[in-house]
Amino acid sequence: MPHDFMPGLAGVPAAKSAISDVDGTRGILEYRGIRVEELCAKSTFLETSYLLLFGRLPNSSELARWTQDITHHRRIKFRIVDLLKCLPEHGHPMDALQAAVAALGMFYPGRNVKDAENNYWSAVRLIAKLPTIVAAWARLRHGDEYIPPRDDLGFSDNFLYMLTETVPHPLWTEIFDDCLILHAEHTMNASTFAGMVTASTLADPYTVVASAIGALKGPLHGGANEEVVAMLKEIGSAGNAERYVNGKLDQKQKLMGFGHRVYKVKDPRATVLQELCVRLFNVCGTSPLYEVAVAVEQLSAERLQDKGIYPNVDFYSGIIYDKMDIDVDLFTPLFAMARVSGWLAHWLEQLRENKLYRPDQIYAGEHNRPYVPMERR
Ligand code: ACO
Repeated sequence: MPHDFMPGLAGVPAAKSAISDVDGTRGILEYRGIRVEELCAKSTFLETSYLLLFGRLPNSSELARWTQDITHHRRIKFRIVDLLKCLPEHGHPMDALQAAVAALGMFYPGRNVKDAENNYWSAVRLIAKLPTIVAAWARLRHGDEYIPPRDDLGFSDNFLYMLTETVPHPLWTEIFDDCLILHAEHTMNASTFAGMVTASTLADPYTVVASAIGALKGPLHGGANEEVVAMLKEIGSAGNAERYVNGKLDQKQKLMGFGHRVYKVKDPRATVLQELCVRLFNVCGTSPLYEVAVAVEQLSAERLQDKGIYPNVDFYSGIIYDKMDIDVDLFTPLFAMARVSGWLAHWLEQLRENKLYRPDQIYAGEHNRPYVPMERR
């Protein structure tokens, strides 16, 4: 039966899922039916990851066990540290993360994805170890020592500690944790789909997550947060924003951190992230990037709102991380540290009724061509 060709599979449902939902015209994002704004106000990243994976909020003993399991699996084997040390220090952290996650799969017996117990521990290891890998790489590439995790610290303060060797201000921890919640899941996006395609072959979860990390890297997806900060730095001051925005749009170029396949209003995550910027700056002083960002948002509104192009999740997140002195090329790995929960939730959901992804194509080439011998080409 012939089908319409939908470039980018836009609007084509690829799965039934109960994990998250986006209302792109009203700007609503829910995880398991709960609005992300409410989760940011009341939950933590670890509790939210439990919600995503297991479908409901944990009771206190479930949360205690989940927290303990994650906390006790944060260490990475010295061979993973050695592997990171062998990678070129100028390489991109997403490539180091992808290589280390793929290598993790060689250390743990997670091959039988039909074993629920095994799957639980694979999910725990992946959520627990990604931050340790990201922090280890961030230090090793500068010639600094790897800092192992501290069991007395929570998920977000431990990550910031492993990165900087300093226990962060509680407000930084809270804001960073909210950033992780906002990045934890987002329906059928490119990286989730990439992971699901790999998962549909019944590959192990380390390979699934390595595939998803590869897809997240590109500038049309998670990589946009780096490009936003580069753009804001290039603009330099709010006064330069008008010339820059008009110049880009006149040349039909895209503004990074704007636009979304699903949202036709401002991304609700961008709204929360903007509020987090303000909270952070009230304590730590403002950031020149923020003033530029606000100017770009206002100026672009006049020209882009009619097309339904508004700031997306990547527009304000980088400003927060930049204020926390986190290297720009670590922004997408931070995204992966959070999104691994969503990837794994989709992996577990899909395994319940797995079907190998094998889409069709519309052949647009020739048939019955003769093989031309080398001397006649
Ligand atoms: N700036 C200016 N114009 C834009 C932008 C933008 N950022 N995004 C889309 N448009 C315009 C396009 O030029 C096009 O205009 P036209 O119809 O006049 O030719 C129209 O809006 C549709 O654009 P498409 O790229 O076809 O829309 P699509 O749904 O495929 O794009 C995407 C979604 C890829 C996210 C796009 O908006 C984009 O490239 N944004 C910049 C990169 C970015 O911020 N990515 C992060 C997305 S969020 C995430 O992945 C975590």
